[in-house]
Amino acid sequence: MFFICLIQLMLTVVNCYNRLSTINSVDGYLDICMDGVYQKEAPGPGELYGQCAEWKERNCCYENTTKSLQKPEPWQNFNLNHCGQLSPMCRGHFLQNFCFYECSPNVGPWLVKVNGMESRKERFYKVPLCERECNLWWKDCKHDSTCVKNWGTDFDLSSGTNTCPGYSSCKNFTEIYTDATDFCENVFDRTWKVVQNSSEPCMVLNFHNTNPNYNVAKQKAQSIYSNKSNTVKFGTMLYLLVVIMLTIPKM
Ligand SMILES: *[C@@H]1O[C@H](CO)[C@@H](O)[C@H](O)[C@H]1NC(C)=O
Ligand SMILES: *[C@@H]1O[C@H](CO)[C@@H](O)[C@H](O)[C@H]1NC(C)=O
Ligand SMILES: *[C@@H]1O[C@H](CO)[C@@H](O)[C@H](O)[C@H]1NC(C)=O
Ligand SMILES: *[C@@H]1O[C@H](CO)[C@@H](O)[C@H](O)[C@H]1NC(C)=O
Repeated sequence: MFFICLIQLMLTVVNCYNRLSTINSVDGYLDICMDGVYQKEAPGPGELYGQCAEWKERNCCYENTTKSLQKPEPWQNFNLNHCGQLSPMCRGHFLQNFCFYECSPNVGPWLVKVNGMESRKERFYKVPLCERECNLWWKDCKHDSTCVKNWGTDFDLSSGTNTCPGYSSCKNFTEIYTDATDFCENVFDRTWKVVQNSSEPCMVLNFHNTNPNYNVAKQKAQSIYSNKSNTVKFGTMLYLLVVIMLTIPKM
């Protein structure tokens, strides 16, 4: 019994280290913001600036962050214009993506812990992006230029902002990425997973009034939670079975 207690204590300590693994309700996944210096503790209402304003009913960011997006590059030490000016249409999609990244209150089910990033302790990973959204983004960017495929990992950061590494040269997006899906999934290190509209609930970057992404997050949260509680139930049954088997011979 002592050893079982000890093991349980150790598991609790390990779990506390990652707050994500202690979430034990559907709402737990829905009332959470990414753990970052620019994010709120939990989603709430708040005025937001410019193209981020659609998230004003419920968001994880502050107005000052959304205002700073409108300033000239670089933004949070990131320079979109690393191969000459991006076209205004293409730039608009990237800014909308940054609004989502900083402000979306619907990413709880996709958060993962990361180490070594200054501005955040978590990121989100493989969030389902509607194919249609990805296609629009790609259509407006495919004639622009960049030098690396993965903007999350491939740049030279030694100067403080991202620059093209020595081995690279500026090329059209179409030479770097094979198609829309390759672009959307790789440009930010698999933040997004492109899904066909009909195959799975998916996120949009632009909306008016009601945020449709809430339902996408809710369905995923329910799925994770029911799988998690099944695992717990199975674990408890196994534990009881072992206890019974150990007890019976002594009776
Ligand atoms: C932005 O606003 C929030 C909340 O008002 C504040 O806590 C934070 O320090 C501000 N950040 C900057 C860079 O001004
Ligand atoms: C890149 O795309 C532009 C616009 O579509 C085109 O004019 C140019 O020739 C392309 N450059 C290369 C190197 O393919
Ligand atoms: C895909 O989803 C978007 C956003 O929900 C919607 O506006 C669009 O009509 C859908 N497209 C198709 C082909 O179903
Ligand atoms: C939950 O389990 C089902 C069945 O094994 C699986 O298809 C689904 O992807 C799981 N959901 C999550 C969020 O892991």
